[in-house]
Amino acid sequence: MKFSLNIDHFATVRNARGGQQPDPVAAALIAEQAGADGIVCHLREDRRHINERDVRLLRELIKTKLDLEMAATDEIIKIACDVGPELATLVPEKRQELTTEGGLNVIDNISRLKETIAELHESEIEVSLFVEPDLEQIDASAEINSDFIEIHTGVFANALSEEEQFDELERIRAAVKHAKKLGLGVNAGHGLDYHNIKVFREVPDIDEVSIGHAVVAHSMFVGIERAVKEMIALLRK
Ligand code: PXP
Repeated sequence: MKFSLNIDHFATVRNARGGQQPDPVAAALIAEQAGADGIVCHLREDRRHINERDVRLLRELIKTKLDLEMAATDEIIKIACDVGPELATLVPEKRQELTTEGGLNVIDNISRLKETIAELHESEIEVSLFVEPDLEQIDASAEINSDFIEIHTGVFANALSEEEQFDELERIRAAVKHAKKLGLGVNAGHGLDYHNIKVFREVPDIDEVSIGHAVVAHSMFVGIERAVKEMIALLRK
């Protein structure tokens, strides 16, 4: 299972003082050196963490893979097509949320998402749709030519009992199997950390996990290099 680091929260700390430090682009370069397979960032409409300068510099400097998380809005689609990340992960975006709260409703937004995927494909950008482990949402994602899905793991991560965690993991297993049968690549993320990853890594056939908050938080104590290496060691055990 590959590991991509979401660097948004290095930018959150930078923006707290409106200056230059810590630079999320520098963090991305250290993470790559430590073995991360890719870098993820979410360019939000309100630019609360990553900004356009970050995305453009990342495009220039990183050597692995850039995954741009984004809402399917005209402004951000235009920037994505201009910057050219390897992957665009489409997510729902609400102004008031602290973080992405759940998967896309692909079924209810099918024509808009189909158009967006076609536009990104024209710029040779692969597309992933962030969805719940729901077979109908996955069918709809395949129908509109998404290359990947990213399964929302927030419910698994926030489970209050082992039983609840087990049930959600079963839903995720079924979703992965279904998506693979349809020929989709499968990523996963949200709320994964150094503890729950030990259970999560047993799910077969997930191509990549996208993890941010836990690794950024741990890096404050042990440094980015060690935080990344520790997560990779857990994933590959
Ligand atoms: N995947 C998606 C689609 C997300 O929106 C986020 C949060 O930005 C993540 C993964 C990473 O979540 P976390 O920061 O909880 O690891």
